[in-house]
Amino acid sequence: MAAIFDEIVIKGMRIRNRLVRSATWEGMCDPDGRPTEKLITLYSKLALGGIGLMTTGYAFVTPEGKQLAGKLGINTDAFKGDYKRLVNTVHDSGGAIAIQLVHAGGQAIPDNAGGELVAPSAVMVAHYQAKPKELSLKQILEIINAFGEGAYRAREYGFDAVQLHAAHGYLLNQFLSPHTNLRKDEYGGDIENRSRFVMEVYKKVRTKVGDDFPVMIKMNCADNMDGGLQIDDGLYVAKRLSDAGIDAIEVSSGNSASGIKNGPLRMRVNRPEKEGWNMPYALKVKASVNCPVMVVGGFRSYEVCEKAVKDDGIDYITMSRPLIREPDLASRWKRGDTTKARCISCNRCFKPGAEEGGIYCVAEKDERDKQH
Ligand SMILES: Cc1cc2nc3c(=O)[nH]c(=O)nc-3n(C[C@H](O)[C@H](O)[C@H](O)COP(=O)(O)O)c2cc1C
Repeated sequence: MAAIFDEIVIKGMRIRNRLVRSATWEGMCDPDGRPTEKLITLYSKLALGGIGLMTTGYAFVTPEGKQLAGKLGINTDAFKGDYKRLVNTVHDSGGAIAIQLVHAGGQAIPDNAGGELVAPSAVMVAHYQAKPKELSLKQILEIINAFGEGAYRAREYGFDAVQLHAAHGYLLNQFLSPHTNLRKDEYGGDIENRSRFVMEVYKKVRTKVGDDFPVMIKMNCADNMDGGLQIDDGLYVAKRLSDAGIDAIEVSSGNSASGIKNGPLRMRVNRPEKEGWNMPYALKVKASVNCPVMVVGGFRSYEVCEKAVKDDGIDYITMSRPLIREPDLASRWKRGDTTKARCISCNRCFKPGAEEGGIYCVAEKDERDKQH
């Protein structure tokens, strides 16, 4: 069995250990989605901090798929120079970087998306602002092509991999979920039909980047809510993607409608028993697929991460919030200081992302302010 600091190579992408930064929106881009120097500096810090692979915050493939402000855009060639600088900085700092591709669908924010929202069906998502319009078949094809174009650009710019965002209630997850997909055509109904969009996006991306480039997916294996995607259907999709050649599946679950206790961003992860809440799903996925499996959700202790990799055979542990507070967590653990991550899972990091031009750990700032 592998150990946390074992290297792995996927199609030429060298990952120096089993710790991965899960995609994390930073709120550090220009309004049109152009990456800024602030973002590049953050990625450089993460690379120098020893993480094996980092995934960018979600990048929109078409403007109407945009959600939070300050989000990356991969919908145009206009940012080519900025992206190349970003990727080169990460590589020069010893890191590897994947870009996460997204369309937010019915979870887009109208002011940021520039108009009407679109989704598999006209279903308003809990906690979001507007009822989307059902996508036409023509629009579905356009979005599939936009994912392909985004992935093509990513490879051109030097990214090591792309990751499709099919988790947390965004468009790909909306198609998979019977809660948001009420379509009567070939994209709706049973799971074979509901997974058609995801499979077509994957195939288009694969065609655009070639067989020798890593294409990964972060997917909800279950929505953790009545009427949402259930684990058996999630496993069906994972297996189909694995059979079709996906290079890694990152297991997540929940969305805004499943509530904070069952959602993707649980709070107060203050005991080892609360950590790694997607492990039961990840173990089932691991038993069903042939590709590497990553798992996200509340990993905080070195021992919990080590057990998942060493004893349970999970290929990678991915983390988001702990790395906002400690971008050098991987190096710290590697040096032998294996005390748990200092993140207290309070979710206050979102606010400065929206209001102050970029996320940071508010709990840490409060602690520092109290000391002075
Ligand atoms: C500020 C912030 C931004 C996030 N942005 C994304 C994102 O862009 N894409 C994504 O798949 N998940 C995103 N997430 C969810 C995380 O990747 C992760 O799934 C979740 O926080 C649980 O992992 P953790 O306990 O290690 O934080 C975000 C989380 C936070 C706190």
